[in-house]
Amino acid sequence: MNTGEKNYNHNNSSYRYVCLLTEIKSGTSKSFSIKTKQQKNAAIAVFNLNGKFYATSNSCIHKGGPLSQGFLDGDIVTCP
Ligand code: FES
Repeated sequence: MNTGEKNYNHNNSSYRYVCLLTEIKSGTSKSFSIKTKQQKNAAIAVFNLNGKFYATSNSCIHKGGPLSQGFLDGDIVTCP
């Protein structure tokens, strides 16, 4: 994620552009599909917790529930 620069070069980086910071309001999350360094698709959930952004897999380890639609309690997300 970055502040909106459209030509962000991520070819040799672990960073991926997904959206503008303003597109995820504090206390909410969004899901994105990104390419890994191995060129595999990965679904991630990005959370904005009081202006700090955190990313994790969007799939719950139980049965794959969409964590981006989960319920936040502080820094803990509960699968929907
Ligand atoms: S899919 Fe069952 S708890 Fe998340």
